Amino acid sequence: MRVLFATSEVAPLIKTGGLADVSAALPAALRDMGVDMRVLMPGYPQVLKALPQLQAVKEMAASHSFPAVRLLEGELPGGVPLWVVDCPELYLRGGGPYQDEHGMNWVDNPLRFGLLSKIAAVLGSAESPLGWRPDVVHCNDWQTALAPAYLRFSNGAAPSVMAIHNLAFQGVFPPQTTMELGLPPECFQMEGVEFYGNLSFLKAGLHYADHITTVSPSYAEEIQTDELGFGLQGLLASRRNILTGIVNGIDTDEWNPATDPNLARPYDATDMRGKLANKLELQRRIGLRSDPEVLLFGLVSRFTHQKGLDVVLEIAPQLVALPAQLALLGAGDAGMQQAALELSHRHSGQISAYVGFDESLSHLIEAGADIFLMPSRFEPCGLNQMFSQRYGTPPLVHATGGLSDTVVDCSDETLARGEASGFAFRGVNAASLLAAAQRAAAAYHDKKTWRALQQNGMSKDFSWGKSAAAYCDIYRRLAQRVR
Ligand code: ADP
Ligand code: GLC
Repeated sequence: MRVLFATSEVAPLIKTGGLADVSAALPAALRDMGVDMRVLMPGYPQVLKALPQLQAVKEMAASHSFPAVRLLEGELPGGVPLWVVDCPELYLRGGGPYQDEHGMNWVDNPLRFGLLSKIAAVLGSAESPLGWRPDVVHCNDWQTALAPAYLRFSNGAAPSVMAIHNLAFQGVFPPQTTMELGLPPECFQMEGVEFYGNLSFLKAGLHYADHITTVSPSYAEEIQTDELGFGLQGLLASRRNILTGIVNGIDTDEWNPATDPNLARPYDATDMRGKLANKLELQRRIGLRSDPEVLLFGLVSRFTHQKGLDVVLEIAPQLVALPAQLALLGAGDAGMQQAALELSHRHSGQISAYVGFDESLSHLIEAGADIFLMPSRFEPCGLNQMFSQRYGTPPLVHATGGLSDTVVDCSDETLARGEASGFAFRGVNAASLLAAAQRAAAAYHDKKTWRALQQNGMSKDFSWGKSAAAYCDIYRRLAQRVR
């Protein structure tokens, strides 16, 4: 089985969120199961710099508004074969993959990700200049979501899977973009790529793909509702027979408290002494008062409305009055960044905010905090709540999407069954978050309950095995249908 996995970010080369983690770990897990996985991504400067040994294998001519490109071949750090779309005009620039230094979307994003989608489709069709042809093209989020549309209008096309990691980002552009990107005009209609008068990349993917996946079973249900469907609930509900929710795994080598090089001291479920050493190191590193006893809440997140960060900031003074400390790491919304920094000045020693992206600090927070906060308004899957369970740091989460599927709320019953692994609450508002935090604080001060929560979380299997097998089944069904 040969699968082309098209994605706009792959850790550790370039990462803005969980898609990068998934794009690194899932292809590697499938490859270990015998699937011939090849990853396709844009030639951002970070990628070309990290992989100097990439070799040019093909040149592809300009077409429509797309410039000519070179296809570079190499390997991801984990050994998975990689193709990079080298197009300096579109990808070689400062800033991030989607936005400039000031947080503004690149104005040529339709062209940048139209090209990525187009190349994925070419490689998946009879037009491909390569000897290798995939049985399935696996697309991820809006940045590759035009590929199923291009495939539908090409010869000898492989079937496609459209994976939704976040329905909130859809890639919606003016209608004339459709022609500029070389899509046939007849696809600009409701039964096609048209979305309220514009071109929607994601809608195109959802309409033309042969199978749709998303990253947890609960989210697969939620996106069919008005509340979380972002306007695509009708389409998703109409395609629910080909929509599958598969919960993400995590890289259990990278996220292993027994071997994590970012920690002050390793630990595991049989010997938790190292966890306290990490708490003290975290307090020292980020300027919190040194105190082994005080309850320490940690948070690592994009600073956005989705993540409920506004509510955390709102109740931060009440949290520290519990008493507790708060360690925040993240970047995003300028107002939230400012508010977090102000809180850390006003409550110096009790609240610390680090604005930026810091991989190493994120590991230390997972290890050094007592409770991990994740009150997301919606969460397709979420990875941090899994990292934190593995690090003996019970998560406190809003009961939504992947958070519902991966965290078992602490109650007498779930404790008795040996399943409780965190705290889940309903309704993202100050009162319910504070009530959940108080409930968690009470459990923290009950040594026996706390030990059980930590042990239950640490003994769960969050590896990719089962989920990778579920993707493999989908690939196999699609490939057989074609033969
Ligand atoms: P999302 O993709 O919606 O942002 P996920 O929970 O799936 O949410 O994945 C987020 C990933 O990005 C995790 O690996 C998390 O640790 C990481 N991350 C987010 N913000 C930061 C940050 N400021 N510094 C380091 N890592 C971060
Ligand atoms: C998205 C979602 C997150 C998910 C990640 C990887 O960014 O917001 O919930 O874990 O993709 O699938």
